[in-house]
Amino acid sequence: MKEGLLVKIIGIAGCYKRDGITKQMLDQVLANVGPENEVEQIFLLDHKIYPGSPELDNLVEKLKQADVWVLAAPTYWGALSGVMKNFLDCLRQLTLRFDKNGDPHPLETFLHKHYVLLTNCYTKTWENMFTGTTDTALRTMDKVMTTLGLIKAGEAVQTNTYFLTTLPAKKQVELSHLGQKAGSLQRKDDQTVKRYIELFFIVAAMAFITMLIQTGVLHLLGQTLGFWNNYISFVVIFFILLSITLHFFTVVKHKRK
Ligand SMILES: Cc1cc2nc3c(=O)[nH]c(=O)nc-3n(C[C@H](O)[C@H](O)[C@H](O)COP(=O)(O)O)c2cc1C
Repeated sequence: MKEGLLVKIIGIAGCYKRDGITKQMLDQVLANVGPENEVEQIFLLDHKIYPGSPELDNLVEKLKQADVWVLAAPTYWGALSGVMKNFLDCLRQLTLRFDKNGDPHPLETFLHKHYVLLTNCYTKTWENMFTGTTDTALRTMDKVMTTLGLIKAGEAVQTNTYFLTTLPAKKQVELSHLGQKAGSLQRKDDQTVKRYIELFFIVAAMAFITMLIQTGVLHLLGQTLGFWNNYISFVVIFFILLSITLHFFTVVKHKRK
C-alpha cells in the first residue's frame, strides 16, 4: 500500500483489439481515476504468458504493487476470453498458497486489494438480462479474484456491441464513475465487521417486512392467530423473503446492461 492517499491502479486488457470496445471501456475507467493516482495498463497480448515465463513474473510483481486491479475482457462463446483466461490460469501457482490437501489460500500480499471487472458482448441488453450471456465471464474473474483475497469494487457490462465502434455516452459516464471510485479506494483491513452489520440490517428489514405482511393479511381477513400459527406463518414468509434475497445476491448479482 502506498503512503498517503495515492492509489496505484493497474488495468489488464484481455482482448485482441487495441481500439475495440473492451479496450475503450478500460481506457475510460483508467482515464478517470484522478491525476493524483498512479495508473498502468497492460495489454496481455504484448506479453509472453505461460507458466515460468519471466514476463509473467514481471506482471505478478506489478500486481503486487497495485492497490486496485481493473480486469477487462470480452465475452467469447458465452465465457471469458481466452487471453484473460490464460493469464488467470497462469497466475494460480504464483499468487496462492496451497495446503497439504492442495486447497488454495490467499497470500497476505494480495489480501484486501480491490478489483473492478469489465466485459461486453454482441447480445442485446434485454436478451443478456434474461440469458445472462456475460455471467460466466464475470463469474470466472470473480472466482479468481476472491480466491486471491481481493474485494470487489464494481463491474460494468457493455451489451449490443455488434455495430458499436465507440462507447455510448451513457456508458462513458458509468465507466467514469467507476474510475473515480477505483481512484478513491484504499486497501481494506478487514470486512468481517461490515459483513455482520450488513447481515443485521438485512435480517432486521426482512423481519419488519414479514411482520407487515402478516399483520396486513390478518387485518384483511379480520382474523387473529394463536402463538403457533403466528410462528409458522412468520417462518414461512421470512423463508420466502430470505430465498428471494439470497437468490438475488448469489445468482442475479451481475450487471447485465
Ligand atoms: C470468438 C468470439 C466469440 C464470441 N462469442 C460471443 C458470445 O458467445 N456471445 C456474444 O454475445 N458475443 C460474442 N462475441 C462477440 C464479442 O463479445 C464482441 O466481439 C465483443 O463485445 C467486442 O469486444 P472488442 O471490440 O474488444 O473485441 C464473440 C466474439 C468472438 C470473436
